[in-house]
Amino acid sequence: MTKKAVIVGALGVIGRNLMDHLAAQGGWEMVGLSRRKPDFESEAEFISVDLLDRGDAEEKLRHLNDVTHIFYAAFQARPSWAEHGAPNLAMLVNSVEPIAAASPGLRHVHLVEGNKIYGSHLGPFKTPAKEDDPPHMLPNFYWDQEQWLREAQVGRDWTWSASRPQTVCGFALGNPMNITTCIAVYAAISKELGLPLRFPGKRGAYEAVYQVTDSKLLAESMEWCALNADGAAANEVFNITNTDFFRWKNVWPKFAAFFDMPMDDVQTISLTDFMADKEEVWNKIVEKHNLERVSYKEIAAWPFADYVFGTDWDVMTSTIKVRQAGFHNCVDSEEMFLRIFKEFQDRNVLPR
Ligand SMILES: NC(=O)c1ccc[n+]([C@@H]2O[C@H](COP(=O)([O-])OP(=O)(O)OC[C@H]3O[C@@H](n4cnc5c(N)ncnc54)[C@H](OP(=O)(O)O)[C@@H]3O)[C@@H](O)[C@H]2O)c1
Repeated sequence: MTKKAVIVGALGVIGRNLMDHLAAQGGWEMVGLSRRKPDFESEAEFISVDLLDRGDAEEKLRHLNDVTHIFYAAFQARPSWAEHGAPNLAMLVNSVEPIAAASPGLRHVHLVEGNKIYGSHLGPFKTPAKEDDPPHMLPNFYWDQEQWLREAQVGRDWTWSASRPQTVCGFALGNPMNITTCIAVYAAISKELGLPLRFPGKRGAYEAVYQVTDSKLLAESMEWCALNADGAAANEVFNITNTDFFRWKNVWPKFAAFFDMPMDDVQTISLTDFMADKEEVWNKIVEKHNLERVSYKEIAAWPFADYVFGTDWDVMTSTIKVRQAGFHNCVDSEEMFLRIFKEFQDRNVLPR
């Protein structure tokens, strides 16, 4: 069967890496949706659409009449958690409804959620969290999206599934949530200023148990859900992380060695405040190492780094469910960080 996937949010850290994965697997025709156009070569069709605008979505998506799979990984950040709900639900509805109406052969819709559904961003929560644990006190936009999808599927020929990753790591630029670029840019700026590599977050976060999700592993799991749309993945939610856990205090020395820097103790700062005036330093680094010209704003999102490094409680979810369902892939998080730093270096985005 020909498989035709629409990747909604195709330029994000999740969507972009999913497209790379599906292209490498072969057997997938792909259509990517986002407002921007890609600044890289791709065999996929890209549609520039504003999914907050229902009219624009209907106009641009109505010709998609042979889609078999939708992978939804779009995201709109808003200043407060409560404000995330309306735009993020609207983008899901405005993409799935027109495509489902135009494509009678639709088999599966996959939604990317996140561990924040358990309240992992709010404070200590039950660990390891399991998929059938209740959400935190609503509102939560993943919850709204999942409830809508569950109801939208009733009576249809297609099935749905959802993944819940934690702090997705991988190559992408201009996205508000990418801890790998934040670490590497923070290290490069520290080095340029002659400073050692210090952990900039809370001491409790340095010590606590944490977990992350490699975007490549997430992509593999999303494809696995699509290929098991009528079986183990049908209408199911899965926690997807690397499956291991770590403490920043144990990986930080490895980062210092990778960046060839001396290490020092924790020094808690607000990266949002302290990195705000470092654009000139970054531009100097770009000049000195003849790097690709990626703007400072695009390369690191300091509020996200403050959030991750301020998480001074254990963040653990169970991945037993997906493993028992048949997806067994896993990643060593320490190796993943170093591999991704190197990928950014190889693409000449970060200094060696
Ligand atoms: N990254 C993480 O660490 C992480 C962890 C757990 C869960 N998640 C969840 O995974 C989902 C995807 O996250 P992500 O990190 O991949 O997001 P991202 O990097 O910010 O990417 C978002 C994508 O959505 C597109 N988009 C945004 N507004 C749009 C609009 N109005 N119309 C069309 N496209 C639009 C963006 O492209 P344009 O800007 O060009 O439109 C981009 O392609 C989110 O629900 C997020 O909460 C992420």
